Amino acid sequence: MLWRDFFRKKCYAVNEGRFPRKLGLFDLTFLGIGAIIGAGIFVITGQAAALYAGPGIVLSFLLGAVAIGISALVYAELSSAYPISGSAYSYTYATIGEIIAWLVGWNLLVEYGVATAAVATGWSGYLRTFLEQNFGFTLPVFLTGAYNPAKGTVVDLFALLGVVAVFLLLTIGIKESATVNSLIVILKIATLLTFLFFGIKYVDFKNLENFLPYGWTGVWHAASLIIFAYLGFDAVSTVAEETKNPTRNVPLGLILSLGVSTLLYMSVSFVLVGMVNYKELNVPDALAFAMFKVGNKGVANLIATGAVITITSVMLVMGLGFTRIIYALSRDGLLPKKLSAVHSKFKTPYISTLTGGVILSLLAGFVPLKVLAELVNIGTLFAYFMVGIGVILLRRSGDVAPTFRVPYAKLLLPINLFLLIFIMGGLPKETWIRFFLWNALGIFLYLLYGYRNSRAQERSYEQ
Ligand code: ALA
Repeated sequence: MLWRDFFRKKCYAVNEGRFPRKLGLFDLTFLGIGAIIGAGIFVITGQAAALYAGPGIVLSFLLGAVAIGISALVYAELSSAYPISGSAYSYTYATIGEIIAWLVGWNLLVEYGVATAAVATGWSGYLRTFLEQNFGFTLPVFLTGAYNPAKGTVVDLFALLGVVAVFLLLTIGIKESATVNSLIVILKIATLLTFLFFGIKYVDFKNLENFLPYGWTGVWHAASLIIFAYLGFDAVSTVAEETKNPTRNVPLGLILSLGVSTLLYMSVSFVLVGMVNYKELNVPDALAFAMFKVGNKGVANLIATGAVITITSVMLVMGLGFTRIIYALSRDGLLPKKLSAVHSKFKTPYISTLTGGVILSLLAGFVPLKVLAELVNIGTLFAYFMVGIGVILLRRSGDVAPTFRVPYAKLLLPINLFLLIFIMGGLPKETWIRFFLWNALGIFLYLLYGYRNSRAQERSYEQ
């Protein structure tokens, strides 16, 4: 076993021309917003305000925006240097080396996979409100939440079924059409604008008086939770090979989708904590709840409906991301070949999709959203951190010339690394323990399998 093999790099043949280039800047921006806006703003914001930050949640969003904003610029630079699919996994494989790329891929499995489960629990909360308000249908309590004897809940049935449905769809083949995505994104933006438009009238400054009830520490902890709302922008970089003029459109698409989402997040979170007292927001459907609370049942209903539909798209895109990462790892020999087996009729990686579906539906049913989201956050922030190091190494090596470069890099790149670690530091100890165990398992599997079976051995690679 050679130490330097751990850091063998993959040389990507850019523009292999396997996919037709159909996506433009508009599609990419919409794709980004499609993956970004979901359970984070519709569900987690309320819980983070109630439990950690109070009205100061707006500052948590600001902190998140700075950290993730710089990460988006970093992704933009790397995607303009390597206009290939695979996102963070491919960037680190090309710039740092195999073992880190494997760990990044291993954590991206958590990002996309566990996020699907997490988003499903948020979706389930809105679906219950929707059914209750419109059809007077209520589920028995024990089927309405993750296992919690104190609350009398055993399983979140809708979340579990939601994941099963998504993975069945992904197995039989979902044609991810940019047009359908664009329609859902318009609905997403319309739902949030409706909330802003009607909600702003109810903002009562009394609710904002005690702005930092849990101090700055609360803002920090909340930032580490709501960072979930920003994740997914990287989905834009996974379709670089299907994009026209990718060296221009991918960086712009990344920046635009994150910019629009950030503006919406800052204003929605402000209006939310202005409408109702933050203490009341520990509910699974905060935006609809707030509207309901101020007496606007009609708009509450519209928002619950909009949320159910829009969160579905995040589940699908994240679920799809999960199967693509497994596929990439397996194609490169780091996971068993079987996992990238493609179904003869459906033309989908059905073994990985079905295995993922079983595991993730159980997670969605039995583990609470907050725990899932924290796990997603730490794994994804780790990936962003490694990509942040990757870009520094890329600049040092001078191997490829990116067409987009992070401005003020000497200042912004270290700030980015610092903020990512800082936000990760705001997550609870148990999350860190889960993160270390997951990565220890990852390294163990790499030594056992990936190291020996990596296809990088067959290709030309640098030291
Ligand atoms: N950013 C995505 C969401 O908020 C994961 O649902």
